[in-house]
Amino acid sequence: MKTKKQTVLITGATSGIGYEFAHIFADKGYDLFLASRNREKLASIKARFGDLYGIAVTTMPVDLAKAGFARRVYEETVRQKIDIHILVNNAGFGLAGEHVELDRIRVEEMIQLNVTALTELCSLFGAAMKKRKSGYILNVASTAAYQPAPYIAAYGATKSYVLNYSEALAKEMEDYHVRVTCLSPGPTDTKFFDSVGVEGLAEKKTGLWAKSNRMESREVAEIGVNALFAGKLSLVAGKWSSLFAFSSRLATRKTTARISKRVMQQATRE
Ligand SMILES: NC(=O)c1ccc[n+]([C@@H]2O[C@H](COP(=O)([O-])OP(=O)(O)OC[C@H]3O[C@@H](n4cnc5c(N)ncnc54)[C@H](OP(=O)(O)O)[C@@H]3O)[C@@H](O)[C@H]2O)c1
Repeated sequence: MKTKKQTVLITGATSGIGYEFAHIFADKGYDLFLASRNREKLASIKARFGDLYGIAVTTMPVDLAKAGFARRVYEETVRQKIDIHILVNNAGFGLAGEHVELDRIRVEEMIQLNVTALTELCSLFGAAMKKRKSGYILNVASTAAYQPAPYIAAYGATKSYVLNYSEALAKEMEDYHVRVTCLSPGPTDTKFFDSVGVEGLAEKKTGLWAKSNRMESREVAEIGVNALFAGKLSLVAGKWSSLFAFSSRLATRKTTARISKRVMQQATRE
């Protein structure tokens, strides 16, 4: 058995960046507690990683876009007497299009998942980490956090929340030896583009979200884990995305919003 007897909780570990987080932590010998909706995928990851890495994998099928379900995840770890040493808030989705035309229930679910569930998990597990005077939290935002993002307005705003909240929380928690890091990926080749609500986006050939411009999810996850253990406050994955995020600081908000409108209009159109 390679297990360190320390457990990493990852939300949204059944695909994309979250799946790679699970791989990386399993390879480092951590036990895993995985929370996402797809029961079958969770079961197959549990069997595969348990065999491959000799670690304990606990899974909890849960819809974190539903109010109160983040607390259930916490309660389940308490019930099973599993201390969470590292919390990775990765689950999230985006919606693209003119904001007033979006399905309002989907928008509410997105805010619930990207913002409310993440905040609740940080509160609950953060309190336990503060008491233990150790722990790590890795929150996943996006380059959309760094400027107003027309045509993904609400999604971008949820990620601006994640970025600001994580950086502030990091400063509060540093007094208790709990590290909080915020990772902002740019376009990454995952199922993310299948569910944003614009047909053909997954195979897009031009613009910011073109398939050829996307980073591999493994590389993004590795950048996140390295940043977490290096104690970084926040970072953008990849040099082009970093440049993109940084460039928004060089212009006025009015100019940034205008440029962002043009870029996002192109990015979200097939
Ligand atoms: N891909 C990109 O270009 C990109 C760019 C910037 C930021 N991000 C962020 O990166 C994170 C990971 O996304 P990804 O790109 O890896 O996308 P992905 O492949 O679609 O993975 C999303 C993960 O979240 C889980 N999930 C979705 N809705 C959920 C819900 N209601 N309750 C619980 N789990 C849920 C999914 O699992 P189930 O289906 O099993 O629930 C899946 O494991 C997200 O926060 C996203 O906003 C992605």
